[in-house]
Amino acid sequence: MKTVAVFFGGKSAEHDVSIITGHTPIIQSLQATGDYEIYPVYIARDGSWYSSPEMNDLVYFKTDLEAKLSKEKKVRIDINDGLTLIWPGLREKKVSIDLAFPAMHGTYGEDGSLMGILRMAGIPFVGCDLAASAVAMDKAFTKQVMEAEGVPVVPYVWFTRYQWETKRDHYLREFENLNYPLFVKPVHLGSSIAISKVRDTGELKNAIEVALHYDDKVLVEEGVENLIEVTLPIMGNEKLTFGAIERPMNDTDFFDFSDKYLGGGKGEGVNTEYSEIPAKISDELSKKVLEYGERTYRTLGCSGIARVDFLIDSKTEEVYVNEVNTLPGSLYHHNWKKIGVSGVELCTRLVELAEERFAKQKDTTFAFDSDILNKAGGQKLHE
Ligand SMILES: Nc1ncnc2c1ncn2[C@@H]1O[C@H](COP(=O)(O)OP(=O)(O)O)[C@@H](O)[C@H]1O
Ligand SMILES: [Mg+2]
Repeated sequence: MKTVAVFFGGKSAEHDVSIITGHTPIIQSLQATGDYEIYPVYIARDGSWYSSPEMNDLVYFKTDLEAKLSKEKKVRIDINDGLTLIWPGLREKKVSIDLAFPAMHGTYGEDGSLMGILRMAGIPFVGCDLAASAVAMDKAFTKQVMEAEGVPVVPYVWFTRYQWETKRDHYLREFENLNYPLFVKPVHLGSSIAISKVRDTGELKNAIEVALHYDDKVLVEEGVENLIEVTLPIMGNEKLTFGAIERPMNDTDFFDFSDKYLGGGKGEGVNTEYSEIPAKISDELSKKVLEYGERTYRTLGCSGIARVDFLIDSKTEEVYVNEVNTLPGSLYHHNWKKIGVSGVELCTRLVELAEERFAKQKDTTFAFDSDILNKAGGQKLHE
């Protein structure tokens, strides 16, 4: 049986959501196949790594987590000759992992950090690789890359904390080129954390301070009027499969954390209760969403799975790419189900895609013989 490590939790604002994604659907689906020996790897909020069979059950994480963890031994990893999990102690146990299934949202996980370790270990892993993950994690990078490709994004200004502190007047002038209402966002966070909608300069300055409290880089962008939000899950490496265009429905001014994750209350990690699947938008709009979705996925170099989010002005029919999630909450399995892909099929397919990408990477030649080392040296620098 293949050994699969499922990674979830993490040093991220989306720690709890990640635990849900790890279990529903990933661990549950992998268990249902009977084909895998599953090792849940839980990364706690403090960055410690744990792994025990009880962690395959979501219930473990619901009560007294701190107390339970204090009795657990931290698990170690070795990245020589693949990825090995090591439980140290008198009866040390080691397990060599055949494939990794990251279920980490946000920082220190979805942002490419975990993918870097898995690349260095040299094992196949599910979902986007390091570069796509890192670019998608930064809302400003994503806009810059897509803008360069000619895919519409809303007008924006970005800056770091240092730039704001040292060149404030410059940015205040730049903001004059943007039409209110504006949205202020920390570039690396998700789940609407520290995002504000502002209507004048006073509100804008306050909102920037709030955003800079959570991140050292901030995006200020034009708000889309007559807003319809839709999202498109995409799966594949080279040949792509599209999920249904989904319109999350919400009644507040804009999505906040509780809307997204708590309102549905179905324990699926996302609020599916208020989603329209497929979104009732015109054929022309759907066509644009599919086209921009595919271009975004390919331009960022996504693989495995991702979800592209759009903002649509329903009056002008303008479609803008808003952001890319390289690890959609709970893999958006409710959406894939609508087009006939079960949770088990989804996870199995993602494992296959991971193995396919890994095999292709192996075909690339990384060695290049040269005699540069023989020629180097001779004279010492400080002689
Ligand atoms: N430019 C915009 N115009 C209108 N609404 C926006 C805009 N940007 C964000 N929003 C609203 O704020 C929500 C959260 O912003 P988003 O960029 O998706 O960040 P995240 O989902 O990572 O928290 C969006 O789902 C949307 O409802
Ligand atoms: Mg979003």
